[in-house]
Amino acid sequence: MSESPMCRKKLEGKVAIVTGGASGIGEVTARLFANNGARMVVIADIQDELGQKIAKSIGWNSTATYIHCDVSDEEQVKAMVEWTVQNYKQLDIMFSNAGVYSKSNQTILDLDFPSFEHLFAINVRGMAACVKHAASAMVEGHVRGSIVCTASVAASCGAKKHIDYFMSKHAVLGMVRSASKQLGVHGIRVNCVSPYVVATPLTLQALGMDAEQAEEVEKIFEPYVVLKEALLKAKHVADAVLFLASDDSECVTGHNLVVDRGYLGAS
Ligand SMILES: NC(=O)c1ccc[n+]([C@@H]2O[C@H](COP(=O)([O-])OP(=O)(O)OC[C@H]3O[C@@H](n4cnc5c(N)ncnc54)[C@H](O)[C@@H]3O)[C@@H](O)[C@H]2O)c1
Repeated sequence: MSESPMCRKKLEGKVAIVTGGASGIGEVTARLFANNGARMVVIADIQDELGQKIAKSIGWNSTATYIHCDVSDEEQVKAMVEWTVQNYKQLDIMFSNAGVYSKSNQTILDLDFPSFEHLFAINVRGMAACVKHAASAMVEGHVRGSIVCTASVAASCGAKKHIDYFMSKHAVLGMVRSASKQLGVHGIRVNCVSPYVVATPLTLQALGMDAEQAEEVEKIFEPYVVLKEALLKAKHVADAVLFLASDDSECVTGHNLVVDRGYLGAS
């Protein structure tokens, strides 16, 4: 008897890496990948205790594992991808998601280059290193893999402050568009998701709020969205990532899937 499409697990047998998987959007996506039949979800992050705790709660070494990887260091990214392939034989999905927000409200007039370089080392160079080494492993292993990056609505608009962050996300989108053209010949797809504001630790920290104030965040940004009654959660972003990671999107590449309750369309 054939399986009902309702019960189909979208990532059956796949090996996935999730960077920034110890928190926020990455954590929720790692859990969704596991629930969708991924053979192994490798959580790569710098928050070791948290990352291990999450991998254990998903299924330590049976469905998920944790590896320390600072994405700003290309050698660590290379080693993390090689370790994944050595241990689990292949790499099918790279969700390159680790990122940080601006440390200050800087504009072009007071742009502080040391903090700009720190942010770019993670958000841009780190993202590119993950795409580079995942794609190399996929090419070498003859895997028609899927690479998904986390960009942002900040990739498609400007803002009155946080210029470093907005520039970094524009760079991610440019990288995704170019890499998709360069990797298509190998059957590798490269796409990105672009969320609007989600109340994760990144956002709460940027706003100087704590976890109990998550609902406040939603209220602050509510006036800027057109789609009402659908509060944007990490789950909604994870659903978009799952679509791009799975064969459901087998003919989609170079795409920027915006998950923003209509924010960009309305601006
Ligand atoms: N939360 C939002 O509103 C929002 C909106 C648009 C885009 N994004 C993007 O989503 C991604 C995930 O952010 P989040 O909101 O889930 O935040 P988060 O802070 O909850 O998670 C980010 C994770 O990245 C990890 N990380 C940071 N620096 C790292 C490094 N050098 N190496 C490896 N891991 C590192 C952190 O430890 C953390 O676990 C980021 O790229 C962010 O820019 C977030």
